[in-house]
Parts: sequence; C-alpha cells; structure tokens
Amino acid sequence: MEVKKVAVIGGGTMGNGIAHVFAMNSIPVNLIETKQEFADRALSTIEKNLNRMVKKEKITDGEKVSTLDSIEVFLDVEEGVKDVDLVIEAVPENYDIKKSVFEKIDKAAPGHAILASNTSSISITKLAAITSRPEKCIGMHFFNPVPVMKLVEVVRGLETDDETYEATEAAAKLLAKVPVPVNDSPGFVSNRVLMPMINEAIFCVGEGVATPEHVDEVMKLGMAHPMGPLRLADFIGLDVCLDILKVLYDGFKDPKYRPAPLLVQMVDAGKLGNKTGEGFYSYD
Ligand code: CAA
Repeated sequence: MEVKKVAVIGGGTMGNGIAHVFAMNSIPVNLIETKQEFADRALSTIEKNLNRMVKKEKITDGEKVSTLDSIEVFLDVEEGVKDVDLVIEAVPENYDIKKSVFEKIDKAAPGHAILASNTSSISITKLAAITSRPEKCIGMHFFNPVPVMKLVEVVRGLETDDETYEATEAAAKLLAKVPVPVNDSPGFVSNRVLMPMINEAIFCVGEGVATPEHVDEVMKLGMAHPMGPLRLADFIGLDVCLDILKVLYDGFKDPKYRPAPLLVQMVDAGKLGNKTGEGFYSYD
C-alpha cells in the first residue's frame, strides 16, 4: 500500500513538524486541530520554519509556497481522516485523550488506512486494542525538531502486520528519514535510553553535585552531545519527561526509573521548560 495522502491530528510542536515534512515531500496533508487559533498557530510555525530553510537555501521560495498549499486545515476529526491512507495522531501524551482520538479515527478513516501514533511511550498494542484494525496500527515516533532529526522509530504492536510495517517504513523513507524498527515495549528504545540519562542529570542537580550549566557542559564537551541533558529536558518539556519516566517505572516496576524528586517538584511548580519560559534555564 502506498501512502498518497495523510492526516495529522494535533498541530503542536510534533504535529506541525510532521505536517511540515510530509507536505514538503509532496504528500498532501489534512492538518486536524480542535480550534482555528491552534491551527493558525501551527501554520505560522510551519511558515517560520520554512522561511528559515529558504534563508539557508535548503528549499526555494516556490517550494515553500507549494508546501503550505499542500496543507489543508480541518477542525473535525471525522472529516479530516475520511480520504487519507495514513493517519498520524500527535495529540498530548495522555492515554484518555489518545483513546478518544483512536475511537474516532477507527470509525471514520477508510478501511485500508494505517492508524499511527507519534506517542513517545504509550503502548502501541494498547492503542491498537481500541480499534477494530489492530493489525493496521503502528507507532511512528518522530523527533524534535522534526524537519531536522533523521530518526523515525517505527514501533510494531503485538498485532501489527508486515504490510503495515512496510508501508510505514516506506512513508518514512519518502521523507528522507531513517526508519528504525522497534518492538512495543515501555519507552521503546529512544526514551528507555534517553530518560534515565536525563533523570540522572536531574538527580545530580538535586543532590548538589553540580549546577545545570555544569552538568550540561560535562555531557556536551565530554560526550559530544549537541545539547546537555538538562537543556534537552527543557526542550522536550519537563512534564513530558516525567510522564515518560512514569510509564517506564510502571511498565518495568524497576526502581531505576523512579523520577527524581526535583523533576516532580519542578513540574508541580509549573516550570516545564521552554514552553513555560522557565525550567532548568530561563527563556524569553
Ligand atoms: N525547522 C527547520 N530547521 C531547523 C529547525 C526547525 N524547527 N530547528 C533547527 N533547524 C536547523 C537550522 O536551520 C540549522 O540548519 P543548518 O545546519 O543548515 O545551519 C540546524 O537545524 C541547526 O540549528 P541551529 O544552528 O539553529 O542550532 P543548533 O546547531 O544548536 O541545533 C538542534 C539545534 C538541531 C535542536 C540541536 O541542538 C540538536 O540536535 N539538539 C538535540 C535535539 C534532540 O535530541 N531531539 C530529540 C528530542 S527527544 C524527542 O523529540 C522525542 C521524545 O520522545 C521525547
């Protein structure tokens, strides 16, 4: 099955990036949001990121215009998914919200359509079980910033069939991304490895071993990471990091995944990183 048209549900950081890369690779996108103002914000972010690419001479002005023209906004999920081959859900990382989306898309999307989730840690098998087509459900996990990061973790649920996997892998390749196959397991590979590192960096700060700046300097200069773990935690969102650690902790029942008390406190205080203007660092 060839993916010729996609629907992206949610125009937040990940959703607008996913819509951006499909549209830029000539695959029409139905971008679904709950309110016009959220859709407008998503489109203006896409335009800003396309402008940056024009300025760097990665795309032409004409390619920017045709990318924006390839995105159509819908405020109704059922309407937005009815003529697509692939639906990618990128709504907040909350099982109940995703459940209600999967119920709707299963009813409204064509029978042949693949239902994918960009979840960073929720079980694909559990999401698939909500639908009448678990064999057509899969994880398509992109990384932020989506136009820049090459990886797509393609997560197979217990019942995902080979045809669905192959079509999803081919779609990722069309975007010039590198799909990596992973089986469904808490945190998949990316967050099972990344989050304990971020958590340990937060323990170092909480225990007074080093300041956030110094922890990040160690990892940037000593391990050649492009961003230190605490700057990265702010970039991902401290609430998202905490949610993923809870999924790992609940899924494995292993104390090595217990969230650092400082992380819990910062989330309780509403210091979530870049999106709230304050986390381990301050942002304008
Ligand atoms: N859209 C398009 N292009 C963008 C962009 C965007 N949103 N953001 C950055 N870029 C481009 C820039 O134009 C620049 O292009 P050139 O190389 O051609 O100059 C390039 O990316 C680098 O950007 P900058 O020069 O502005 O800044 P930088 O060198 O500090 O890099 C970064 C920024 C790419 C974000 C880099 O710091 C980085 O790779 N950080 C790590 C990001 C990471 O780990 N992401 C994964 C997070 S985990 C996740 O997303 C999933 C999860 O489940 C939690």
